Amino acid sequence: MSTDTLDRTASLDPSLPERFADGSAHAIFAQLRREAPVHWCPESQFGPFWSISSYDDIVAIEAQPALFSSEAKHGGVSIIEINPAEASYMESFIMMDPPRHAQRRRTIAPAFTPSEMARLADSIRTRTAACLDALPRGETFNWVDRVSIPLTIDMLAILFDFPWDERDSLRIWSDAITSLDMIANRSQERVGLLFQMAGRFHQLWLERQAAGPAPDLLSMMIHSQSFGEMDAAEFMGNMATLIVGGNDTTRNSMSGLAEALTLWPDQWDKLRSDPSLVANAASEIIRWQSPALHMRRTALEDTDFKGHQIRKGDKLVLWYVSANREEGLFPNGDLFLVDRPNARRHLCFGYGIHRCVGARLAELQLQVLIEEMLQRDIRLETSGEVERAAHPFLAIVNRVPVRLG
Ligand code: HEM
Repeated sequence: MSTDTLDRTASLDPSLPERFADGSAHAIFAQLRREAPVHWCPESQFGPFWSISSYDDIVAIEAQPALFSSEAKHGGVSIIEINPAEASYMESFIMMDPPRHAQRRRTIAPAFTPSEMARLADSIRTRTAACLDALPRGETFNWVDRVSIPLTIDMLAILFDFPWDERDSLRIWSDAITSLDMIANRSQERVGLLFQMAGRFHQLWLERQAAGPAPDLLSMMIHSQSFGEMDAAEFMGNMATLIVGGNDTTRNSMSGLAEALTLWPDQWDKLRSDPSLVANAASEIIRWQSPALHMRRTALEDTDFKGHQIRKGDKLVLWYVSANREEGLFPNGDLFLVDRPNARRHLCFGYGIHRCVGARLAELQLQVLIEEMLQRDIRLETSGEVERAAHPFLAIVNRVPVRLG
């Protein structure tokens, strides 16, 4: 790298939350990919960190979990440092390294097999159809409130067989887990909500234990062989991971879909004329939206990575949002193209041992949503500014004002 490039990139901090609200992060990542794909940011509101912004480098790091750790005690999987107190009462397998990780993942994975997905598909379709049929005609509404949030919350409630009338609590708890504002300014309120969540899931745990095996995810976990090794803190942590994993990411993909369809109505026409593109369109919206902007790892040893001296304890931020628009892999990556030939190659679900366990479920929900929209030819027209949250970890969309065309 030339001295000139070094000077220009030295001060780059792609983690500024505002960059993800106004979309300016994409230009920073394009520059980092070009000039400094492995980049040290010495100072940020989240402390110093390495930015890894290109596809192959992210894959190379995720392929070495023995060297680049996910463990909560080293800081976890987000640039936002995990609070040590929180780590003691919520432990999740997403923040575990081998060999513990594999044992715990085995408890949850059976809930996401193709046959389980087939079992869930009917209820997902019924809920989706009802939601679309209830949309207002001839007036502006927020797609996030009317479609993305209810559909993902309903799906989580179905997955856990969570009491239907209480399902809005899942949204409240999920927001409490991820809200930057709550983490920074309303920690008491946040802890209160997390304890409320712990209490409710503990009750359900006891009820499901007494009731015997059933196909919902909670019962599956509770009656699995390795559940005996899971204490209350771990049970809670896994619940939190499933709620955030299953809620925010899919919700924001659905919101991204509405935004993309208002920006590129020709893509809707393409889908209408060739519905066999639906599965590809679901992958493409996940790529374009990149719902998990990054995952983080922590170096367990001093090591050389591509000529850069990584020190033990350094934080590495793997920017999926950047890799998913890498020019050589995804030409015109800023565009949403339902027939993009390699849309499925996106890195949104991660790579390696932690690759998203719920990927099939997320794809299923998006496919069903697009299919049911096609059935009704739901053509979306933009009706105001899209509002994205200032958040460096999740691509959160708060408002997509639309009208049905
Ligand atoms: C578009 C939607 C989704 C995206 C983009 C997404 C993204 C991710 C990513 C990037 C990881 C890897 C974490 C890492 O490498 O550190 C992950 C793991 C995980 N996801 Fe998802 N996810 C989605 C949907 C879901 C759903 C629907 C669920 C469940 C209801 C879920 C549950 C999980 C769990 C439990 C893990 C931990 C896996 C492990 O550590 O072995 N996710 N997800």
